[in-house]
Amino acid sequence: MEIRIEKTACPKAKPDSSTLGFGKIFTDHMFIMDYTSGEGWHDARIVPFANISLHPASTVLHYGSEIFEGLKAYRRADGKVQMFRPWENVRRMNNSAERLCLPEIPEELAFQCLTTFVDVEKDWTPSAPGTSLYLRPFMFGNDETLGVHSVKNATFIIIASPVGSYYKEGINPVKIMIEDADVRAVRGGTGYAKCGGNYAASNRAGKRAEEKGYSQVLWLDGVERRYIEEVGAMNVMFKINGEIVTPALTGSILPGITRKSCIEVLKKEGYTVNERLLSVDELAAAMDNGTLEEAWGCGTAAVVSPIGELCYKDKIYTVNNGAIGPVTQHLYDTLTGIQWGRLADDFGWTHVIG
Ligand code: PLP
Ligand code: COI
Repeated sequence: MEIRIEKTACPKAKPDSSTLGFGKIFTDHMFIMDYTSGEGWHDARIVPFANISLHPASTVLHYGSEIFEGLKAYRRADGKVQMFRPWENVRRMNNSAERLCLPEIPEELAFQCLTTFVDVEKDWTPSAPGTSLYLRPFMFGNDETLGVHSVKNATFIIIASPVGSYYKEGINPVKIMIEDADVRAVRGGTGYAKCGGNYAASNRAGKRAEEKGYSQVLWLDGVERRYIEEVGAMNVMFKINGEIVTPALTGSILPGITRKSCIEVLKKEGYTVNERLLSVDELAAAMDNGTLEEAWGCGTAAVVSPIGELCYKDKIYTVNNGAIGPVTQHLYDTLTGIQWGRLADDFGWTHVIG
């Protein structure tokens, strides 16, 4: 499809890349494409970054028909910009669209939208250590009626933000509270889809955790509040008595691309990784008897984030003396090495923009 490009007449000054937070500054342009049931996807364009206007009855404002993705472009030492596993995001976005009854985007077209946009904005990719250009594709239902139906009109947008680290702790271990009241998602619901509603539902527990001095919560399953699911907006992994274990994808967990990459790196190196149900009782027992060796979250924003402390039913457990463990550190070094082009990409995960 032809993508019309309208460059801004007033480019902004680029920020000092040593002071970046997460998702606060946006680049000069945005990608937009419209969908109607008659015409399909059409009018793909890259235009100056600006507010958008919506009809007050627009579906997304009332019934939450919204999905999004998150991926990054990285500046390598040779100056080139590359993306990490963008096809995985394209596929996951379509799985989310199917769940929310939003229109899927043909994979080749979605990839073209993403790479064309990154090519236009690539100069915004910062170069300070640990920084990158965070890409946020999102889609919402945009019918101008209050009826509750699958939509006939939708909008797809991509925005980009130069970012530093997600947690203020950076790669330092974070404190996590195990949440046994609120749940994030249930099987049969939308947990495996990346839709805005999942995050709206998670904010109350996140707020309570922050008020008690924790960075995020560890979610338990929505039926029995027994099995571990995710940590905040990341997948979670543990090393217990030599076994590397991560919750199996049962439908309520987002299939993270960083999770998949960690598993592939570890398996290639001969580790056994078990994707299985892990109960909070098993985890608490491992913390009590000292067999929990390492715990870490993994996601695009933080890459790999060691967990240094867990609180469950007001009991506080320290993991690995509050320090990053060797497997966590190795995964962080390997993934960030491939993402920033410091290590050879034997998996073929990166896509160079130029
Ligand atoms: N789980 C949730 C709920 C998330 O929002 C994310 C972030 O995208 C992840 C897991 C990790 O997924 P990924 O590694 O694809 O970023
Ligand atoms: C991630 O990329 O790991 C995230 O969880 C993104 C978050 C800002 C929703």
